[in-house]
Amino acid sequence: MSQPGKTKFQIDLRRHLREQDIDDNLIHLITEIAEASKYIINSIRTGDLGVAGTSNLYGEKQLALDVLADRILRKRLDHSRVVANIMSEEMDEIIPISPDCAGKYSVAFDPLDGSSLVDVNLAVGTIVSIFEGCDLLQPGRNQVAALYVLYGPRTTLIYSTGNGVHEFALNTLMEYTLLQENIKIESKGNLYSPGGQRNLYTPGVEAFTNHLEERGVKLRYSGGFVPDINQILLKGRGIFYYPHLQGLPQGKLRLLFELSPMAYLIEQAGGAASNGHQPILDLQPDQIHGRAPVFIGCKEDVALAEEFIRKYEVESPPQVGKKSSKAVHSN
Ligand code: F6P
Ligand code: MN
Repeated sequence: MSQPGKTKFQIDLRRHLREQDIDDNLIHLITEIAEASKYIINSIRTGDLGVAGTSNLYGEKQLALDVLADRILRKRLDHSRVVANIMSEEMDEIIPISPDCAGKYSVAFDPLDGSSLVDVNLAVGTIVSIFEGCDLLQPGRNQVAALYVLYGPRTTLIYSTGNGVHEFALNTLMEYTLLQENIKIESKGNLYSPGGQRNLYTPGVEAFTNHLEERGVKLRYSGGFVPDINQILLKGRGIFYYPHLQGLPQGKLRLLFELSPMAYLIEQAGGAASNGHQPILDLQPDQIHGRAPVFIGCKEDVALAEEFIRKYEVESPPQVGKKSSKAVHSN
């Protein structure tokens, strides 16, 4: 894919996108999102760490930074001329941008995932899911692209348009340049990132966790979905889960803004993502803000989680994409 004779550090995001078999509007859209992320990283570095005084519809307190990151992305998408509808984790409803769906894209995004970690200076990220046309309530399998930006010690951008997963880093000139192409994860891992309260685990998830621990896997959980997934993707080994919990059958993470795009990227890298019963990418969202349990990472580990759940949990599988009745108070 890279041109012979050029080192891969000279390949910037736009040029890499041009080498993919995708249309110009999608290239434009992804580069606009990448531009927006440069303003978001600047706000994280220098901005107000306080609360905005508002809550999102999950009952989570919005930070000034959540609101700012949301505005930055929204404005950029609004002016891009290639977007039909947008939907953000911080908004209550779909925002129509253009009534004309042809040649346009609809975008669901979590502007600042893990924002409650900003005050303790841990890594956070932006997650983006892209569909062709106007419809956002589709199974993740229909995405035409997904990406995330990780604001860690370095800022990196990971994207896929269905032709592998590629990593870029922001250099001192504020350009995203290629770090690695076609990232692959192994079939079985040695890391686990178990989300949610352990004393609320259901029997299958508890047995699965015990099994992993007996196998000697290492605990790696930062509390930020983007860095936790990034670690599994780039180390190439491991499983992240935020399972269904007792009293919280849909878990915490949101299907459209968080799970579908990450599942798309992890599948593109040869991994798997399941709600414990079926692939995340096959779930039909029935509402914008629906949640689902998730087990995501190495294929064999995800299959094993499903097996434990089948074996130990006789109750009917959780309904997909439902909004949880219980608010979970952290972003
Ligand atoms: O979107 C919410 C989020 O902050 C994710 O980044 C993270 O994986 C999860 O919640 C952490 O939840 P908890 O605080 O329950 O571990
Ligand atoms: Mn989030």
